[in-house]
Amino acid sequence: MDEKLLTLKKWIDESDNIVFFGGAGVSTESGIPDFRSTDGLYSQKYKYPPETIVSHTFLTRRTEEFFEFYKEKMVAPALAARPNAAHLKLAEWEKAGKLKAVITQNIDGLHQAAGSKEVLELHGTIMKNYCDRCGKKFPVEYVTESAGVPKCECGGTVRPDVVLYEEGLDMGVMERAINYISNADVLIIGGTSLVVYPAAGLIRYYRGNKLVLLNLSETSQDSNADLVIHAKLGEVLSQL
Ligand code: OAD
Repeated sequence: MDEKLLTLKKWIDESDNIVFFGGAGVSTESGIPDFRSTDGLYSQKYKYPPETIVSHTFLTRRTEEFFEFYKEKMVAPALAARPNAAHLKLAEWEKAGKLKAVITQNIDGLHQAAGSKEVLELHGTIMKNYCDRCGKKFPVEYVTESAGVPKCECGGTVRPDVVLYEEGLDMGVMERAINYISNADVLIIGGTSLVVYPAAGLIRYYRGNKLVLLNLSETSQDSNADLVIHAKLGEVLSQL
């Protein structure tokens, strides 16, 4: 084990107040492409840029195209995926009383599938859906089994409980995330490019001296971290 891994192992072994904050890179080892890597979702060619498609305007004005993209590129890969070594290790640490919470920008539900209980989904989840007219709730299967746009019996559109571009984050979830991060002993940030706000801004609430950045590529926050490891999350965490 190299020196950086030994440091990380020591911090993990000694702590019972670890918080993990992650993004799409947590799920790439489960076969779900991230957004901004060269093989990521945003590097593929579409009629519209994905940021445009995954927006509130697109959902309301071009609803059929929204659901075509959303079901094929976001829901199908997530439902076909299984938790990887990173998801499983985080769940194991929580069960052992070492990890307080997983804060994620992912919408794929894989942390819960791995057994994590305290999962704060900043950008919502594909698993929950609701009618934009009457508010009735629907499971993800209702969306995948509907041809085209999923409709409620009241005539409304069944939309995902996912935060689209132009939409605000749930303030209750944000406050809980801030609380966990500002009280954390070890904060591990992994698998996120840290470019999407307000989620990326959460890092500034950390007050400790064990900020770990575990990401395949460099991020703009590397210089602020106490330990930087550029490697695959699942490969690193499974060694701990
Ligand atoms: P990005 O695609 O922007 O960043 C993923 C990061 O994970 C990249 O820096 C990769 O180098 C890294 N990475 C990939 N595989 C990895 C692995 N196995 N181990 C470690 N690191 C790995 O994804 P996010 O930061 O999550 O928002 O993107 C943030 C938001 O942008 C998403 O939540 C989504 C998107 O628009 C919404 O849908 C609202």
